[in-house]
Amino acid sequence: MAEKIEFSPLIVGMMRMGSWGANMSTPELGRFVDQCIELGLVDFDHADIYGHYTEEANFGKLIKERPDLKSKVRITTKCGIKMISDNRPGHKEKSYDSTGQHIIQSTENSLKELGVEKIDLLLIHRPDFLMDPADIAEASQRLKAEGKILHFGVSNFTPAQFEMLNSFTPLATNQIEASVLHTSPFEDGTIVQCQRLGITPTIWSPFGGGSIFGLSSDPNILRLREKLNEIADRHHAGMDQILIAWLNKHPAGLVSITGSTKIERIKSALEALNIELSHEEWYEIWQASKGEEIA
Ligand SMILES: NC(=O)c1ccc[n+]([C@@H]2O[C@H](COP(=O)([O-])OP(=O)(O)OC[C@H]3O[C@@H](n4cnc5c(N)ncnc54)[C@H](OP(=O)(O)O)[C@@H]3O)[C@@H](O)[C@H]2O)c1
Repeated sequence: MAEKIEFSPLIVGMMRMGSWGANMSTPELGRFVDQCIELGLVDFDHADIYGHYTEEANFGKLIKERPDLKSKVRITTKCGIKMISDNRPGHKEKSYDSTGQHIIQSTENSLKELGVEKIDLLLIHRPDFLMDPADIAEASQRLKAEGKILHFGVSNFTPAQFEMLNSFTPLATNQIEASVLHTSPFEDGTIVQCQRLGITPTIWSPFGGGSIFGLSSDPNILRLREKLNEIADRHHAGMDQILIAWLNKHPAGLVSITGSTKIERIKSALEALNIELSHEEWYEIWQASKGEEIA
Protein backbone atom coordinates (compact mmCIF):
# COMPACT_ATOMS: atom_id res chain seq x y z
CA MET A 1 0.00 0.00 0.00
CA ALA A 2 2.99 2.29 0.59
CA GLU A 3 3.55 5.14 -1.85
CA LYS A 4 6.81 5.51 -3.80
CA ILE A 5 7.81 9.16 -4.23
CA GLU A 6 10.82 10.90 -5.77
CA PHE A 7 13.46 12.76 -3.79
CA SER A 8 16.47 14.77 -4.93
CA PRO A 9 19.78 12.89 -4.57
CA LEU A 10 20.17 14.42 -1.11
CA ILE A 11 17.60 16.15 1.07
CA VAL A 12 18.65 19.43 2.68
CA GLY A 13 18.03 19.41 6.43
CA MET A 14 16.95 22.72 7.94
CA MET A 15 17.26 21.91 11.64
CA ARG A 16 20.51 23.80 12.16
CA MET A 17 19.87 26.84 9.96
CA GLY A 18 18.23 29.01 12.60
CA SER A 19 18.51 29.31 16.36
CA TRP A 20 19.58 25.67 16.75
CA GLY A 21 22.70 26.35 14.69
CA ALA A 22 23.90 28.88 12.15
CA ASN A 23 21.38 31.63 12.88
CA MET A 24 21.25 32.51 9.19
CA SER A 25 19.79 35.87 8.23
CA THR A 26 17.12 35.84 5.51
CA PRO A 27 19.63 36.87 2.76
CA GLU A 28 22.07 34.18 3.94
CA LEU A 29 19.31 31.59 3.92
CA GLY A 30 18.28 32.76 0.44
CA ARG A 31 21.83 32.33 -0.90
CA PHE A 32 22.07 28.89 0.69
CA VAL A 33 18.72 27.76 -0.74
CA ASP A 34 19.61 29.10 -4.22
CA GLN A 35 22.93 27.25 -4.16
CA CYS A 36 21.21 24.01 -3.15
CA ILE A 37 18.72 24.39 -5.99
CA GLU A 38 21.60 25.01 -8.43
CA LEU A 39 23.03 21.68 -7.28
CA GLY A 40 19.71 20.00 -8.06
CA LEU A 41 18.73 19.67 -4.41
CA VAL A 42 15.13 20.78 -4.11
CA ASP A 43 13.88 18.83 -1.07
CA PHE A 44 14.10 20.84 2.17
CA ASP A 45 13.41 19.07 5.45
CA HIS A 46 11.72 21.09 8.20
CA ALA A 47 9.78 20.38 11.39
CA ASP A 48 7.39 22.51 13.38
CA ILE A 49 9.67 22.27 16.45
CA TYR A 50 13.00 23.29 14.85
CA GLY A 51 14.46 26.40 16.43
CA HIS A 52 11.85 26.08 19.17
CA TYR A 53 9.04 26.57 16.65
CA THR A 54 10.79 29.36 14.71
CA GLU A 55 12.55 27.69 11.76
CA GLU A 56 9.47 27.29 9.55
CA ALA A 57 8.70 30.99 10.00
CA ASN A 58 12.29 31.91 9.03
CA PHE A 59 11.88 29.96 5.83
CA GLY A 60 8.46 31.56 5.36
CA LYS A 61 10.06 35.00 5.61
CA LEU A 62 12.35 34.05 2.74
CA ILE A 63 9.41 32.68 0.72
CA LYS A 64 7.54 35.92 1.24
CA GLU A 65 10.47 37.91 -0.15
CA ARG A 66 11.16 35.35 -2.87
CA PRO A 67 7.82 33.82 -3.97
CA ASP A 68 9.62 32.38 -7.03
CA LEU A 69 11.10 29.77 -4.68
CA LYS A 70 7.68 28.22 -4.10
CA SER A 71 7.76 26.49 -7.46
CA LYS A 72 11.44 25.52 -7.10
CA VAL A 73 11.48 23.74 -3.74
CA ARG A 74 9.72 20.73 -2.25
CA ILE A 75 8.83 21.01 1.42
CA THR A 76 8.89 18.23 3.96
CA THR A 77 7.76 19.11 7.45
CA LYS A 78 6.82 17.20 10.58
CA CYS A 79 4.33 17.29 13.39
CA GLY A 80 3.46 15.42 16.54
CA ILE A 81 6.08 16.40 19.13
CA LYS A 82 4.82 18.87 21.68
CA MET A 83 7.86 20.58 23.18
CA ILE A 84 7.95 22.82 26.18
CA SER A 85 8.71 26.22 24.72
CA ASP A 86 8.04 29.90 25.35
CA ASN A 87 6.59 29.79 21.84
CA ARG A 88 4.01 27.19 22.89
CA PRO A 89 2.88 28.28 26.37
CA GLY A 90 0.00 25.77 26.19
CA HIS A 91 2.42 22.83 26.38
CA LYS A 92 2.79 21.96 30.06
CA GLU A 93 4.52 18.59 29.62
CA LYS A 94 6.61 17.26 26.73
CA SER A 95 4.46 14.75 24.87
CA TYR A 96 3.73 13.16 21.51
CA ASP A 97 0.38 13.92 19.93
CA SER A 98 -0.67 12.15 16.75
CA THR A 99 -4.38 12.72 17.09
CA GLY A 100 -6.08 13.71 13.86
CA GLN A 101 -7.04 17.00 15.44
CA HIS A 102 -3.41 17.85 16.27
CA ILE A 103 -2.11 16.71 12.86
CA ILE A 104 -4.59 18.99 11.07
CA GLN A 105 -3.99 21.94 13.36
CA SER A 106 -0.21 21.58 13.14
CA THR A 107 -0.27 21.27 9.34
CA GLU A 108 -2.41 24.36 8.98
CA ASN A 109 0.01 26.23 11.21
CA SER A 110 3.03 24.97 9.21
CA LEU A 111 1.40 26.16 5.97
CA LYS A 112 0.95 29.59 7.50
CA GLU A 113 4.48 29.76 8.95
CA LEU A 114 6.13 28.53 5.74
CA GLY A 115 3.95 30.80 3.60
CA VAL A 116 3.08 28.03 1.14
CA GLU A 117 -0.20 26.60 -0.10
CA LYS A 118 0.84 22.96 0.12
CA ILE A 119 3.31 20.72 1.92
CA ASP A 120 4.86 18.11 -0.34
CA LEU A 121 5.48 15.59 2.42
CA LEU A 122 4.10 15.66 5.95
CA LEU A 123 5.65 13.30 8.51
CA ILE A 124 4.68 12.24 12.00
CA HIS A 125 7.93 13.10 13.77
CA ARG A 126 8.02 10.30 16.34
CA PRO A 127 5.71 7.38 17.09
CA ASP A 128 3.02 8.36 19.56
CA PHE A 129 2.42 5.32 21.75
CA LEU A 130 -1.25 6.33 21.95
CA MET A 131 -1.73 6.63 18.19
CA ASP A 132 -5.03 5.56 16.68
CA PRO A 133 -4.29 4.57 13.08
CA ALA A 134 -7.87 5.15 11.86
CA ASP A 135 -7.85 8.69 13.26
CA ILE A 136 -4.44 9.45 11.69
CA ALA A 137 -5.53 7.97 8.35
CA GLU A 138 -8.66 10.11 8.31
CA ALA A 139 -6.66 13.27 9.03
CA SER A 140 -4.04 12.52 6.37
CA GLN A 141 -6.73 11.72 3.77
CA ARG A 142 -8.57 14.92 4.60
CA LEU A 143 -5.38 17.00 4.27
CA LYS A 144 -4.68 15.37 0.92
CA ALA A 145 -8.24 15.90 -0.31
CA GLU A 146 -8.00 19.57 0.63
CA GLY A 147 -4.69 19.86 -1.27
CA LYS A 148 -2.83 20.87 1.89
CA ILE A 149 -0.39 17.96 1.69
CA LEU A 150 0.66 15.87 -1.30
CA HIS A 151 2.14 12.90 0.55
CA PHE A 152 2.20 11.51 4.07
CA GLY A 153 4.81 9.52 5.97
CA VAL A 154 6.47 8.91 9.30
CA SER A 155 9.76 9.23 11.11
CA ASN A 156 11.45 7.03 13.67
CA PHE A 157 8.79 4.32 13.41
CA THR A 158 9.56 0.70 14.24
CA PRO A 159 8.70 -1.81 11.51
CA ALA A 160 5.59 -2.89 13.48
CA GLN A 161 4.35 0.68 13.90
CA PHE A 162 5.00 1.38 10.21
CA GLU A 163 3.21 -1.79 9.13
CA MET A 164 0.15 -0.94 11.19
CA LEU A 165 -0.24 2.66 10.03
CA ASN A 166 0.62 1.80 6.43
CA SER A 167 -2.28 -0.66 6.40
CA PHE A 168 -4.63 2.28 7.11
CA THR A 169 -3.09 4.97 4.89
CA PRO A 170 -0.20 4.84 2.37
CA LEU A 171 3.11 6.01 3.80
CA ALA A 172 5.78 7.50 1.54
CA THR A 173 8.85 7.15 3.77
CA ASN A 174 10.17 6.30 7.18
CA GLN A 175 12.68 9.04 8.04
CA ILE A 176 15.18 7.31 10.31
CA GLU A 177 18.57 7.81 11.87
CA ALA A 178 21.30 5.74 10.22
CA SER A 179 25.06 6.11 9.86
CA VAL A 180 28.28 4.33 10.65
CA LEU A 181 27.55 5.39 14.24
CA HIS A 182 23.94 4.20 14.22
CA THR A 183 23.62 0.86 12.50
CA SER A 184 20.50 -0.61 14.15
CA PRO A 185 18.09 0.06 11.23
CA PHE A 186 20.21 -2.23 9.06
CA GLU A 187 19.64 -5.03 11.58
CA ASP A 188 16.17 -4.51 13.04
CA GLY A 189 14.09 -4.73 9.87
CA THR A 190 13.46 -0.99 9.40
CA ILE A 191 15.39 -0.69 6.14
CA VAL A 192 14.35 -4.17 4.94
CA GLN A 193 10.71 -3.11 5.31
CA CYS A 194 11.20 -0.06 3.06
CA GLN A 195 13.03 -2.27 0.57
CA ARG A 196 10.17 -4.79 0.55
CA LEU A 197 7.57 -2.05 0.10
CA GLY A 198 9.65 -0.27 -2.57
CA ILE A 199 9.77 3.06 -0.75
CA THR A 200 12.78 5.25 -0.06
CA PRO A 201 14.17 5.29 3.49
CA THR A 202 15.28 8.85 4.25
CA ILE A 203 18.23 9.15 6.60
CA TRP A 204 18.81 11.75 9.30
CA SER A 205 22.21 12.47 10.90
CA PRO A 206 24.19 10.70 8.16
CA PHE A 207 27.34 12.17 9.79
CA GLY A 208 26.20 11.20 13.28
CA GLY A 209 25.30 14.82 13.90
CA GLY A 210 28.95 15.78 13.25
CA SER A 211 30.31 13.84 16.25
CA ILE A 212 32.59 11.76 14.03
CA PHE A 213 34.54 14.87 13.01
CA GLY A 214 35.12 16.47 16.40
CA LEU A 215 37.84 16.05 19.00
CA SER A 216 37.36 12.69 20.65
CA SER A 217 39.16 10.29 22.94
CA ASP A 218 36.47 7.63 22.46
CA PRO A 219 38.33 4.51 21.21
CA ASN A 220 35.30 3.52 19.06
CA ILE A 221 35.33 6.85 17.23
CA LEU A 222 39.13 6.76 16.84
CA ARG A 223 39.09 3.22 15.41
CA LEU A 224 36.28 4.05 13.00
CA ARG A 225 37.89 7.29 11.90
CA GLU A 226 41.16 5.53 11.14
CA LYS A 227 39.33 3.03 8.91
CA LEU A 228 37.27 5.75 7.20
CA ASN A 229 40.41 7.77 6.47
CA GLU A 230 42.20 4.68 5.12
CA ILE A 231 39.32 4.00 2.72
CA ALA A 232 38.99 7.70 1.86
CA ASP A 233 42.67 7.70 0.78
CA ARG A 234 42.05 4.69 -1.46
CA HIS A 235 39.26 6.60 -3.23
CA HIS A 236 41.07 9.98 -3.23
CA ALA A 237 38.09 11.25 -1.26
CA GLY A 238 37.35 12.88 2.09
CA MET A 239 36.18 11.01 5.17
CA ASP A 240 32.86 12.89 4.97
CA GLN A 241 32.37 11.45 1.49
CA ILE A 242 32.96 7.88 2.62
CA LEU A 243 30.19 8.30 5.21
CA ILE A 244 27.74 9.17 2.43
CA ALA A 245 29.08 6.56 0.01
CA TRP A 246 28.63 3.92 2.73
CA LEU A 247 24.93 4.75 3.10
CA ASN A 248 24.51 5.06 -0.66
CA LYS A 249 25.94 1.57 -1.23
CA HIS A 250 22.82 -0.03 0.26
CA PRO A 251 20.44 -1.35 -2.41
CA ALA A 252 17.39 0.04 -0.61
CA GLY A 253 18.31 3.43 -2.12
CA LEU A 254 18.72 5.40 1.11
CA VAL A 255 18.54 9.17 0.65
CA SER A 256 20.64 11.12 3.17
CA ILE A 257 19.40 14.34 4.73
CA THR A 258 22.40 16.62 5.10
CA GLY A 259 22.60 18.70 8.25
CA SER A 260 25.47 20.96 7.25
CA THR A 261 24.98 24.70 7.08
CA LYS A 262 27.95 24.98 4.66
CA ILE A 263 27.33 24.66 0.94
CA GLU A 264 30.84 23.30 0.26
CA ARG A 265 30.10 20.35 2.56
CA ILE A 266 26.81 19.70 0.77
CA LYS A 267 28.63 19.77 -2.59
CA SER A 268 31.14 17.30 -1.22
CA ALA A 269 28.32 15.00 -0.06
CA LEU A 270 26.71 15.19 -3.48
CA GLU A 271 29.98 14.26 -5.22
CA ALA A 272 30.27 11.33 -2.81
CA LEU A 273 27.29 9.70 -4.50
CA ASN A 274 29.68 8.86 -7.37
CA ILE A 275 32.01 6.88 -5.10
CA GLU A 276 31.55 3.11 -5.43
CA LEU A 277 32.64 1.27 -2.33
CA SER A 278 33.25 -2.43 -2.78
CA HIS A 279 31.22 -4.98 -0.87
CA GLU A 280 34.32 -5.70 1.22
CA GLU A 281 34.93 -2.03 1.98
CA TRP A 282 31.34 -1.71 3.22
CA TYR A 283 32.00 -4.54 5.65
CA GLU A 284 35.41 -3.15 6.63
CA ILE A 285 33.56 -0.05 7.82
CA TRP A 286 30.79 -2.12 9.44
CA GLN A 287 33.37 -4.07 11.44
CA ALA A 288 35.27 -0.93 12.41
CA SER A 289 31.96 0.49 13.61
CA LYS A 290 31.12 -2.59 15.65
CA GLY A 291 34.65 -3.15 16.92
CA GLU A 292 34.41 -6.84 16.10
CA GLU A 293 34.47 -9.17 13.17
CA ILE A 294 31.18 -10.40 11.77
CA ALA A 295 30.38 -14.01 12.64
N1 LIG B 1 13.28 12.97 12.02
C1 LIG B 1 14.07 13.19 13.04
O1 LIG B 1 13.82 12.76 14.17
C2 LIG B 1 15.31 14.01 12.83
C3 LIG B 1 16.25 14.15 13.86
C4 LIG B 1 17.39 14.91 13.63
C5 LIG B 1 17.58 15.52 12.39
N2 LIG B 1 16.64 15.39 11.41
C6 LIG B 1 16.82 16.01 10.08
O2 LIG B 1 18.03 15.54 9.53
C7 LIG B 1 18.88 16.64 9.19
C8 LIG B 1 20.31 16.21 9.35
O3 LIG B 1 20.59 15.90 10.72
P1 LIG B 1 21.96 16.34 11.36
O4 LIG B 1 22.09 17.82 11.26
O5 LIG B 1 22.11 15.72 12.68
O6 LIG B 1 22.96 15.68 10.27
P2 LIG B 1 24.52 15.48 10.11
O7 LIG B 1 24.79 15.84 8.69
O8 LIG B 1 24.87 14.11 10.59
O9 LIG B 1 25.21 16.51 11.09
C9 LIG B 1 25.33 17.87 10.78
C10 LIG B 1 26.40 18.46 11.66
O10 LIG B 1 27.65 17.90 11.26
C11 LIG B 1 28.55 18.96 10.98
N3 LIG B 1 29.38 18.57 9.83
C12 LIG B 1 28.95 18.13 8.64
N4 LIG B 1 29.99 17.88 7.83
C13 LIG B 1 31.10 18.16 8.52
C14 LIG B 1 32.48 18.10 8.21
N5 LIG B 1 32.92 17.69 7.01
N6 LIG B 1 33.36 18.46 9.16
C15 LIG B 1 32.92 18.88 10.37
N7 LIG B 1 31.61 18.98 10.73
C16 LIG B 1 30.71 18.61 9.80
C17 LIG B 1 27.69 20.15 10.59
O11 LIG B 1 28.39 21.35 10.86
P3 LIG B 1 28.41 22.55 9.74
O12 LIG B 1 27.03 23.10 9.71
O13 LIG B 1 29.42 23.49 10.32
O14 LIG B 1 28.84 21.94 8.45
C18 LIG B 1 26.49 19.96 11.52
O15 LIG B 1 26.75 20.51 12.79
C19 LIG B 1 18.40 17.78 10.07
O16 LIG B 1 18.69 19.05 9.54
C20 LIG B 1 16.91 17.53 10.11
O17 LIG B 1 16.32 18.07 8.95
C21 LIG B 1 15.51 14.63 11.61
